[in-house]
Parts: sequence; structure tokens; C-alpha cells
Amino acid sequence: MHDTACWQPISDASLSTQDLFRKRHGRYTVEIADTEETHPMTQLHFDEAAATWDEQPRRIAVAKAIGEKILEEAHPTKDMDVLDYGCGTGLLGLFLLPHVRSITGADNSAGMLDVLRKKIAEGSFDNMKAIRLDLEHGPCPADRYNMIVVGMAMHHIADLDRVLRAFHQMLAPDGVLCLADLDSEPGTFHGPEIAGSVHHNGFDRTQLKAQLAEVGFTRANDTTATSIRKPTATGKEEDFPVFLIVARR
Ligand SMILES: C[S@@+](CC[C@H](N)C(=O)[O-])C[C@H]1O[C@@H](n2cnc3c(N)ncnc32)[C@H](O)[C@@H]1O
Repeated sequence: MHDTACWQPISDASLSTQDLFRKRHGRYTVEIADTEETHPMTQLHFDEAAATWDEQPRRIAVAKAIGEKILEEAHPTKDMDVLDYGCGTGLLGLFLLPHVRSITGADNSAGMLDVLRKKIAEGSFDNMKAIRLDLEHGPCPADRYNMIVVGMAMHHIADLDRVLRAFHQMLAPDGVLCLADLDSEPGTFHGPEIAGSVHHNGFDRTQLKAQLAEVGFTRANDTTATSIRKPTATGKEEDFPVFLIVARR
């Protein structure tokens, strides 16, 4: 994996509205190392949610279940550099960390990255780092990884094709992509407070595998990682299966 000079601090004039707000109000002492303007609604939602994200035991259980399935299906090894894209507070990446050489947690939410950086510092994990990255709205960095994992983030990405192409570009030859997300659902998984940030009501596995093939991925296999049982707006508990698709560059 190569570090590039993509993550240079930039001037106030180039900051997004949200970053300027945070900087001026002193809510975060973030190092602004951004790509381009990103989707403000989505970013704002996750910035706000970051501090209490891990308080929901279901999120920790889901990340662990996805991580266990990745170990089973994709067999990460100690010589692998892994990108955890849409890493949030790093639940999935931290689970995989003992099994690989390094993890780079990447997210477009400065709030999420703040929480992850605190965990990295507290745990003295010298083989994990957190970077600001938005492949949907910004350029694709020159870094290369042996594996890219994405846990429950793809349904927040409107331009799937662009991000899948970036993943393909960022994987080393024979690198592995692990996508874990909701199966197609009726739109009841998320509450109304986050509706503006949800671009897919889950995914049809067959369609997603076909899209991966179009982008150049091969040998895509799907399996079920877990199922999330949660109360919805209807007042009833519903089950939402989560798939894991493993594909090769
Ligand atoms: C539902 S959370 C999942 C977080 C983490 N993977 C987990 O399993 O706990 C979705 C994450 O995707 C991030 N995200 C959404 N759109 C993104 C984008 N375009 N680029 C990078 N990250 C994005 C959000 O900031 C958020 O942290």
C-alpha cells in the first residue's frame, strides 16, 4: 500500500459548509483533509450520530457477524492491507485488525472519523488509520489495497457505479471486495430522520453481482451474513437479512 499526498490540509476557502460550521463553532478540532464537497445531508446525519453510534448493541453485533462471515468467506491474511470504506466508528475494521497487516478506515463523516481516531489512539493500534474519503464525489486516490470491505454503507451511496469502479481501481491484482448490506427491503429499515440519506432500499444480490461483473469484478459469490430484527414504524418487529458478496478484481 502506498501513502499518497492526497490528504493535505486545505484552506478555509475550500471547506464544505459543514466543515466551516464545525471549525467556527469549535465542535471538532478536525484536521481537514478532504476531497471535494460531499452529500451534506448524509454527512450531517452521520456527524451527529457518531458520538452515540456504538451505544446501540445491534450495530456492534451486526459488524461482528459481517466480520466473522468475511473471515469465513474471504480468508483475509496477515500480509493484507485492507480498506474499510464507510467505516463509521470502525466496528468492522477493528474486528478484522488482528487478522491482517493493516486497516485503513475511510469515511466522509468527520464526526465518525473523530470517534475512530480516538479508539485508534486509546488502543495504540499502529497498524490502523482513519482517512477522510468520498469516492462518490471526490477523486480516486492512488493507494492500493489487497482487500476492500464495506459494511452497511452502500445503501447510502447514490452513484453505485462510480464507487464500484473506484473500488476496482484501488484493489491490487487479485484483490478481494467484500460488500455487506441489506437485501432488498420495503423501505421500512430506516426511520424518517435518515430518509434523505438512504439511496437504496437494500439490494437485489443477483443485480448487484451483475453490476460488479460489468465493472470488471469476477467470481462474485453471495451468502447471508446475518439478519437484523428491529422494530419499524409499523410498530411491529421485522427481520432484515444482510448479505455478504465476495468478488475478485
Ligand atoms: C450505516 S453506517 C455504517 C458504518 C460502519 N461500516 C458500521 O458497520 O458500523 C454508514 C457509513 O457510511 C458513511 N458514508 C456514507 N456515504 C459515504 C460516502 N459517500 N463516502 C464515504 N463514506 C460514506 C457514513 O458516514 C457512515 O459512517
